Amino acid sequence: MTERFTLTRIAVDTDYHGQMARDVTVGLDATPRSLPPKYFYDGAGSDLFEQITRLPEYYQTRTETAILESTAAAVMAEVQPVELVELGSGASRKTRVLLEQMHAVHAGPVTYVPFDVSEDAVVGAAEALTADYGWLQVHGIVGDFDHHLTRVPRRGRRLVAFLGSTIGNLDPDAQVDLLRDVHDMLQPGDAFLLGVDLVKDVGVLVPAYDDAAGVTAAFNRNVLHNLNTTLGADFEPDRFDHVARWSEDHQRIEMWLRATERMSVHVKDLDLEVVFEEGEEIHTEISSKFTEESVRARLGAAGLQVARFDTDPDGLFAVVLSRR
Ligand code: SAH
Ligand code: TRP
Repeated sequence: MTERFTLTRIAVDTDYHGQMARDVTVGLDATPRSLPPKYFYDGAGSDLFEQITRLPEYYQTRTETAILESTAAAVMAEVQPVELVELGSGASRKTRVLLEQMHAVHAGPVTYVPFDVSEDAVVGAAEALTADYGWLQVHGIVGDFDHHLTRVPRRGRRLVAFLGSTIGNLDPDAQVDLLRDVHDMLQPGDAFLLGVDLVKDVGVLVPAYDDAAGVTAAFNRNVLHNLNTTLGADFEPDRFDHVARWSEDHQRIEMWLRATERMSVHVKDLDLEVVFEEGEEIHTEISSKFTEESVRARLGAAGLQVARFDTDPDGLFAVVLSRR
């Protein structure tokens, strides 16, 4: 680690345990039972997600990367940012395209602010990026984008990025809440770059969330491993099947973990005993798909106007630049 990397923890460890305790108490008591997706991403989960991004069925990452490669120069020339704040930054691999173009249009130091709930992800990305880019300053933030966005200090003309269609993992109300927070992070001249997955054939969508190698299934089950580690639960993840379904009504993929048999699970830190019936499902994730109209409407509801809408030749994915 170099002096070109600083780290701020907004969601400190005790918060993580306490927040998970509250979320899991509510989620396991609900009908249907559910678990919040942010708990997929412990160290092992972040590694599994990286594997997902390289799966043949998961067209999203390579398509979004290609869009960024063909548009980043124009976006940077238009916005001229000195800092890039990235929400849910993960391994920050696609970000390299953006940072290199920022550096190309701006002679001075470039600041990157990766913001992620996973400390491992933020630290790993910062180490790799500062090693490769001598001109880069990294201010990592470990936080929860549902709660802590207004606490990111601004250092100059800012581009906020939210890639990977992670916005689709929030329910519609939470999407608008987050976009309003993004709006409040921006000053005139600043901009927001959003990556969204578009509605398409179910035969393409479902395999992207249920791959032949079973990586997505392992990722889904990882939330149970995380509950075992963090809350002292005794889930046997292999006794839950991975389920991915398209909801035509909601225009989204829904992911579940289905109990293969009747079983009882104890969550030590919550002093909680949960009985699962055979076939009972825990809801773990949604991945909403968008159209150009629905993205414009969602951004508009948060006071953001679309400046560019870039898509790949097949119309699989879109990268959308907006301003307040
Ligand atoms: N941007 C990367 C990673 C996407 S995966 C890409 O496009 O490939 C989603 C990322 O968001 C993970 O790194 C996860 O740790 C992070 N994340 C999920 N929920 C979060 C939350 N509530 N607050 C902050 N980060 C979150
Ligand atoms: N943002 C990603 C998406 O919706 C997250 C994701 C990809 C995901 N594959 C997953 C989440 C499998 C849960 C399970 O495409």
